[in-house]
Amino acid sequence: MKALSCAVALTLAGAANAAPDAGERAQALVAKMTQDEKLRLVFGYFGAEFNGTVPPKEAIPATAGYIHGVPRLNIPPQWQTDAGLGVASQPAPSPRARTSLPSGLATASTWNPRLAYEAGAMIGREARLSGHNVMLGGSVNLMREPRNGRNFEYAGEDPLLAGVMTGEQVRGIQSNQVIGTVKHFAFNDQETNRTTIDVKIGEAAGRMSDLLALQIAIERGNPGSVMCSYNLVNGVYACENDWLLNKVLKQDWGFRGYVMSDWGAVHSTIPAANGGLDQQSGWPFDKSPYFGPALKEAVNNGHVPAARLDDMAQRILWAMFAHGVMDAPPPVVEPEKIDFAAHAQVSRQAAEEGIVLLKNAGDLLPLAAGVRSIAIIGGHADVAVISGGGAAQVHPQGGSAVKGEGPKSFPGPIVWLPSSPKDALAARTKARITYHDGKSAEGAKRAAAGADIAIVFATQWTAESIDTPSLSLPERQDALIAAVAGANRRTIVVLETGGPVTMPWLDKVSAVLAAWYPGTAGGEAIARVLSGEVNPSGRLAATFPASEAQLPRPKIDGDPSSKEGRFRTDYDIEGAAVGYKWYERTKKKPLFAFGHGLSYTTFAYGDLQAREEGGKVIVEFTVTNTGRRAGHAVPQVYAGSHTGKWEAPRRLAGWDKVLLQPGERKAVSVTVDPRILSVYDAAAGRWMRSSGDIEFTLGGASDATAARAVLGMK
Ligand code: GLC
Repeated sequence: MKALSCAVALTLAGAANAAPDAGERAQALVAKMTQDEKLRLVFGYFGAEFNGTVPPKEAIPATAGYIHGVPRLNIPPQWQTDAGLGVASQPAPSPRARTSLPSGLATASTWNPRLAYEAGAMIGREARLSGHNVMLGGSVNLMREPRNGRNFEYAGEDPLLAGVMTGEQVRGIQSNQVIGTVKHFAFNDQETNRTTIDVKIGEAAGRMSDLLALQIAIERGNPGSVMCSYNLVNGVYACENDWLLNKVLKQDWGFRGYVMSDWGAVHSTIPAANGGLDQQSGWPFDKSPYFGPALKEAVNNGHVPAARLDDMAQRILWAMFAHGVMDAPPPVVEPEKIDFAAHAQVSRQAAEEGIVLLKNAGDLLPLAAGVRSIAIIGGHADVAVISGGGAAQVHPQGGSAVKGEGPKSFPGPIVWLPSSPKDALAARTKARITYHDGKSAEGAKRAAAGADIAIVFATQWTAESIDTPSLSLPERQDALIAAVAGANRRTIVVLETGGPVTMPWLDKVSAVLAAWYPGTAGGEAIARVLSGEVNPSGRLAATFPASEAQLPRPKIDGDPSSKEGRFRTDYDIEGAAVGYKWYERTKKKPLFAFGHGLSYTTFAYGDLQAREEGGKVIVEFTVTNTGRRAGHAVPQVYAGSHTGKWEAPRRLAGWDKVLLQPGERKAVSVTVDPRILSVYDAAAGRWMRSSGDIEFTLGGASDATAARAVLGMK
């Protein structure tokens, strides 16, 4: 006993001397606050004029949001900025110019958590130097719907990959005394009727898919805030959904931060407050200031416990203490301190590591030194790369390189980032380069016929609030590509899209690169891959379907022309079998599989073994560079249960990204998250690890198995 009491004494002493943690500091501060001061913290304003309402004068112009502080207690205001791709601007005559990361799908396609962290750290620094202490970035809605207009903001279809990559990004953002925000919570997986659609999904399926991605992102990123989404979940709006917010997020996951609403996602005072919402965002986006005087009255009349208002304030202050916002001086708007050149390099690295070489017939890529002429066609590739629209829109120095395209109002117009693939390539090849705008297929054919190689840049603009009408490339680009390939079989297609697209011309072209929205230095990133300066190492974070017919919902539910209509969508069709899991379960062959991506070298995978050790499952293997040039391998391990109670044959269980010199072999060890080897039992309210044999497969993609190993689980 003595030893124990001594140990206990040491612990207590240690605790007494340790700095009070964020929770204790927040608790102590709330105890000093008046009711009105607490109410100031839970009510947010839009940071730009909207419907005739102007924001408080302390807001930063044309920004996402502002929340008053409490000067008496040195609680700073919250200056909010969008979003996950950089410091965005609301529409304005001259929006501020900041560094744009490539799309979230591009960063996810790097399969490189360190890069996700660095990308987050970069945009978080720009947020701080732009006067913000809250960044609405950490977007991780699973790609259930490849036509979702916001897929470019997210991290693909697998909960483990999406959760890890987003969590790392949030960690990076928050390394700058800026609160990060994991969003949108939850199941906001389409934009059609996003504010009224009711998502039907079973608890187990939800916990093993979208919620698992969010859970992993929150575990890894420790975000100060989570943003609840517009849609309903099983009949209840997400921002007043007691099961989602109080049971899953706060009780089961132990989330200590605060839940802010999306802009216009609040529909009540008492149900929202008691349902777990902590902060109403973006007034006057909602129909009423629910968390204004109405909340005060609800608390004073006992409909909302006073302790609930204390908890709201405590959670917001916890986030501010936990992420340095309380202890750092209030942010100052000092963009002159931003190192844009260095930040462009961070963006470029994410872009080039996220480029996926989908096809490379005859090793046409990298471009041979002896190529004499190259015809570049379409995609404004002479001056720019495309970016996605909506709240996440980051504006470039000098404004859009191409003006007047796309919708005049939100989520348009299309912003073209002034980074020219043509100029960047011209600096890396002796070939004579011509440019044709691709507007006339005949002219493009002639341009292609006259060159050694033709490179078609195909673009697809996607944006918040709209889904794409199909998976086809828009504006007759399929016909353009087919025409060019018909004139020159050495045709390369560079896709700048928001997500997967179909490719009716695939067997007519030699090579295809998925460059996504490649960000501020996107032209350079693309040119470095085409020229071979960089060996592509991106792997698909989302399946490319062969057609809409392969999807759980060939037609997206809802009606894009309806503003107020109420619609339902049934996610129980696929349940947790999202993406590749759906294709494997339904035995459909997609165009390109999850995890697919070619390299300018080749790799071999082997020596796979799995074992249990100390309650953990560890998978080990080797990967070898069997080619003639250095490159990054992305060995992937998938797990499948022989007892067959899983949602699909296999799940991604782990991966690594390994740089290998020619001939080099490396041993890799992966510890598998126990949830990947479990099913969520809704009745028991917990994850139940599967017994029986688990088969692990190893390879360079989900559809390329090089080795198997079976582990008998007790
Ligand atoms: C938008 C988006 C959300 C964004 C917010 C503020 O409607 O759904 O992601 O952070 O409003 O702009």
